[in-house]
Amino acid sequence: MSATARKTAPMPDDILAMKGGTPIVSLTAYTTPMAELMDGICDFVLVGDSVGMVLHGLPSTLGVTMEMMTLHGAAVARGLTKSMMVIDMPFGSYEESPAQAFRNAAALMRDTGAGAVKLEGGTHMADTIAFLTARGIPVMAHIGLTPQSINTLGGYKVQGRDGQAKQLKHDAKAVTEAGAFCVVLEKVPANLADRITKDISIPTIGIGASVNCDGQILVVDDMLGLFTAFKPKFVKRYATLGDEGRAAIQSYADEVRNRSFPAPEHTFADKAPKK
Ligand code: KIV
Repeated sequence: MSATARKTAPMPDDILAMKGGTPIVSLTAYTTPMAELMDGICDFVLVGDSVGMVLHGLPSTLGVTMEMMTLHGAAVARGLTKSMMVIDMPFGSYEESPAQAFRNAAALMRDTGAGAVKLEGGTHMADTIAFLTARGIPVMAHIGLTPQSINTLGGYKVQGRDGQAKQLKHDAKAVTEAGAFCVVLEKVPANLADRITKDISIPTIGIGASVNCDGQILVVDDMLGLFTAFKPKFVKRYATLGDEGRAAIQSYADEVRNRSFPAPEHTFADKAPKK
């Protein structure tokens, strides 16, 4: 189904069925108006824990809490009727045990209306993914560069090089066998992304993982040019809204200072004119 023709939100099984077909389109969103802009254009919208860096000025995603995800998730849900919503499980909310993951995933779905959760990790999270999916929680996995682990990965490096390819292929297989309906591949070389995509039966969603994946995701503020603190190589800017916004704010300030704003058309008279 063409994303522009979407009339109702897909379910996780519909995303799974898109494997190998028309590429799956997704973006992050954190607010109602942004979600409204992409509703029905994207197959799914991710309330990413990137919200911590993008909207809250945090240095990484490690400081993101369940409360933040719940607030932004509920806001995004109010803007979506035709795209599926997936929500990230924040650092520390799922790694301890499958039971902890279930408790927090269920709370996120209950309090936001998300149709699925995403969590980071491959082989070592397989038991948790199996536990959640067996209990009615659809899971999107996330392997390759997993930003919640930057302190053990040694920074935001490309993953799967220097003999790591085998582990990444194991990770992809493990999350597939555990029941994930989809897997995000972040910062993975093109050839490896191609091999993984051909090897597993669930869709791969790439971010910095080449056109060889079954779909793509970007952080919306990156692709709109709203977040400009840094620009990873894999980001394409489709607009420069940050520059336009700053120019508009400067024009407003100039007009306030030279008293050309507000003009008569923005001003109320004592009495409304008679009709
Ligand atoms: O948090 C996020 O925004 C993400 C993706 C962009 C995959 O995890």
